[in-house]
Amino acid sequence: MRTTPFILLSLLAMFSAAITGCKSETLPSGKSQAILEMKRANDFHSYSRPEEAVVTHLNWTASIDFTTRIITATAAYDIQAAADAERILFDCVDLNVTGVVVDGAPVDWQLGPAQPIMGQPLSIPISKDSKQVLISYQSSPDAGALLWVEGEQPFLFTQSQAILARTWIPCQDSPGIRFTYEAHVDVPTGTMAMMSATNPTEQALDGHYDFVMDQPIPSYLLALAVGNVEFRSVGAHTGVYAVPELIDAAAYEFAEMEELLIAAENLYGKYAWERYDLLVLPAAFPFGGMENPRLTFATPTIIAGDRSLVALVAHELAHSWSGNLVTNATWDDFWLNEGFTVYFEQRIMESVYGREVSEMLATLSYQGLVDEVDQIMDTNPDDTHLKLHLQNRNPDDGMTAIAYDKGYFFLRLLEETVGRETFDSFLKTYFETHSFSVMDTDRFIDYLKTNLLNTPELLATVDLSAWIFGPGLPANCPSVGSKRIERVDAALQAWESGAMSTNDLPWNDWVYQERYRFLSNLDDNSSADRLAELDEAWAISQTGNNEVLFAWLEQSIRSHYGPSYARLESFLVEIGRRKFLTPLYGAMIETDQADLAKRIYALARPHYHSVATGTMDELLNWPS
Ligand code: BES
Ligand code: ZN
Repeated sequence: MRTTPFILLSLLAMFSAAITGCKSETLPSGKSQAILEMKRANDFHSYSRPEEAVVTHLNWTASIDFTTRIITATAAYDIQAAADAERILFDCVDLNVTGVVVDGAPVDWQLGPAQPIMGQPLSIPISKDSKQVLISYQSSPDAGALLWVEGEQPFLFTQSQAILARTWIPCQDSPGIRFTYEAHVDVPTGTMAMMSATNPTEQALDGHYDFVMDQPIPSYLLALAVGNVEFRSVGAHTGVYAVPELIDAAAYEFAEMEELLIAAENLYGKYAWERYDLLVLPAAFPFGGMENPRLTFATPTIIAGDRSLVALVAHELAHSWSGNLVTNATWDDFWLNEGFTVYFEQRIMESVYGREVSEMLATLSYQGLVDEVDQIMDTNPDDTHLKLHLQNRNPDDGMTAIAYDKGYFFLRLLEETVGRETFDSFLKTYFETHSFSVMDTDRFIDYLKTNLLNTPELLATVDLSAWIFGPGLPANCPSVGSKRIERVDAALQAWESGAMSTNDLPWNDWVYQERYRFLSNLDDNSSADRLAELDEAWAISQTGNNEVLFAWLEQSIRSHYGPSYARLESFLVEIGRRKFLTPLYGAMIETDQADLAKRIYALARPHYHSVATGTMDELLNWPS
């Protein structure tokens, strides 16, 4: 009997929601309300038609087979149908659908033609009174969301954002559609299963795990990981999961998570998801982090030994409000997720580590933004608008510094225009009033005009249309200043001109942001001898900080600095984080070392996730 523990867990969750003040009482519950809400979204990256029929709850039963790399599962959805509904539509990519049952009776379902990226619509006949559809299926061994890591320690993880959830679960794969879920998952013994839901803290001897997520989430936040991991608590609501070899290092690195959580709550209101845990994934994880509710997925490359890269945790944590509570309606509105999150991340960093640290971070992000704006303006200026145009494109194309950092500077401009106190209370109310719902750019603009920029003067100062619908960086972009970064720039100039010797660089006094600034601003044409001097004096190749190492490797490529190449190769074979791969392979191509890039890629490619190979195949012209 699986229903009993589920009911118990739900009761428990309701109880703890009541005592933690979670906002579940404000969830849209009525049928008409859910359908009405759906009418607003027009998401061309999903075949679903929520105005006809929409899912409200998923009961997923799955068995995970590492040998065949196949998930065999049933997805039973509770649905709400409109008065004239005749079908419900789901998104699928490469799913082998074996049967569909509606309210207990088998039906004639149909899979439409497959489109690249979008996949296939699965159409299931229903009536207005239909209550539940149950889909039996198997995933493909090549499912785009999944990475099966082989070896002594097999590991599986998913990455659903933006539209890859449909490669492992048939779903209405649109960020505007929210549903609760429960899951019952069988995995090989000796591994733990974890999801974006209530999670175990110990391995189950029989390999069976039950999960509950009783707060409605969009499909891109569906997540599963399976591996031999351990759990370690680091605070009252926080903990880390990692493989045994990394658990001590992870517990040390992320020991401040509870403090970050409290800082976030002090800024923008109660944390809504009860627990905030972090799972350290294999190095092949294509991102730095992914904000799966209750369980952030993170790359191990942020374990530096000195807690210097925790800004990433602040970022994923901030998504618990911006993104997970208030969700972008479509991928064209992605800046509403990421721009708000970078702003929130910076505020958490400022509150825990001080303004000096957060301004260094802001300075680095400004430089990255300016570089990327220049680059995008050359090819596709429209992609520098906050509001994107991703129709008929892969939503992944929207993952640039624009949504993140142009978004951040836009919010910073709002803050500087109205004052911090006013802006903070605006944001707090914004999260509160839109909890567990969706937001699109036009509605946000209306909300902003009503609640913050409510005079012609304020509107003129900000210039919404330049920021949101215009190219590049508007002239009123806030300026950032960091004395420490200025001193790094001065040292760099002095060193490059010969006025300062290598041994006089204050390398050992610099924190990661300063070291990164120095290395990433070295003259592209620096000679290999100059790099050798730096390496000899400061053992840069030996750094345990992957951001510093990354900047060093990129410059090593540009300077043809031979002693770095072995490290470059092992870095690229081991680490699948796209943010590192694109610039490193890109630098090899730009500097006539495409043969080297291809030789390394041939070794590394089998270890990468589809999100990374998708980008690298294109960059390297790889036959896929
Ligand atoms: N939600 C994103 C990751 C993402 C975005 C995955 C779009 C797929 C499509 C996550 O919160 C993120 O932004 N990660 C960043 C880290 C951050 C500190 C900027 C990353 O992985 O680099
Ligand atoms: Zn993010």
